[in-house]
Amino acid sequence: MTIVANTVVELNQVTKEYPGGVAALRGVDLRIERGELLAIVGPSGSGKSTLLHIVGTLDRPTAGTVAIAGHDVAALSDRRLSALRARHIGFVFQSFHLVSGVTAQDNVAEGLLYSGLARAERRRRAATALERVGLGDRMHHRPHELSGGQRQRVAIARAVVGEPDLLLADEPTGALDSASGEAVMQLLHDLNADGATIAVITHDGEIAGALPRQVRIRDGRIVEDARTTPEDAQARPEDAETMPLEPAGGEDQCRATD
Ligand SMILES: Nc1ncnc2c1ncn2[C@@H]1O[C@H](COP(=O)(O)OP(=O)(O)OP(=O)(O)O)[C@@H](O)[C@H]1O
Ligand SMILES: [Mg+2]
Repeated sequence: MTIVANTVVELNQVTKEYPGGVAALRGVDLRIERGELLAIVGPSGSGKSTLLHIVGTLDRPTAGTVAIAGHDVAALSDRRLSALRARHIGFVFQSFHLVSGVTAQDNVAEGLLYSGLARAERRRRAATALERVGLGDRMHHRPHELSGGQRQRVAIARAVVGEPDLLLADEPTGALDSASGEAVMQLLHDLNADGATIAVITHDGEIAGALPRQVRIRDGRIVEDARTTPEDAQARPEDAETMPLEPAGGEDQCRATD
């Protein structure tokens, strides 16, 4: 299956209830067209990670439908779904999910495990991806020998090494200083310019405001879906800075463990 459809993601009335009765998503409609670069914003516990997991087919909704490149996810066998994910979707998880005791290069090469490429080629491409995120000199370090921001960049390299059609990133700059964060955002912009469709969860109003589309979620519902033209972002940078974003760790919501 190749993602050539114009609508890469289509969610209709998606609800997700976790055991114990938490309704993390309540009737979400979302369409993502090929080539889009969008931010998902909202308070802690509002359902952002849950939404990303469902869009990435890692989790199935309790109700509603999910279509990826026009294919109804509910109709796909687990095997076909895994194949779709492995070939077309890259993830940067909120908590990195790196394999401990394994070098940065092998962690990134793992992103190509189901690609059919030989091990040497997987490692060669992993090295290139690490260079791209500025970690060419940390190739042989294991996760505990890397800083938090460097681990985050390894996770990004792993997500992009297979050149996914759809890249889903959960707070990819959350643990980075502003310079490294900018480098990561530049990388995402470059990948988007190369054709990748990208959804980024962020708490950073400036980052969200600089992206062409912002989807705002609150209590499991999409409450705003705004598009900015590049001219808007350039002409009024102060708007991006003052965008009324919710701070992390809001109100009575508790933080998910992911
Ligand atoms: N596996 C789970 N079992 C039960 N409840 C869960 C589970 N995962 C998440 N939740 C709950 O679902 C809601 C949404 O969680 P989610 O992780 O999607 O929030 P989030 O918007 O990503 O928050 P944050 O910004 O803190 O990462 C929260 O109230 C959370 O406690
Ligand atoms: Mg989250």
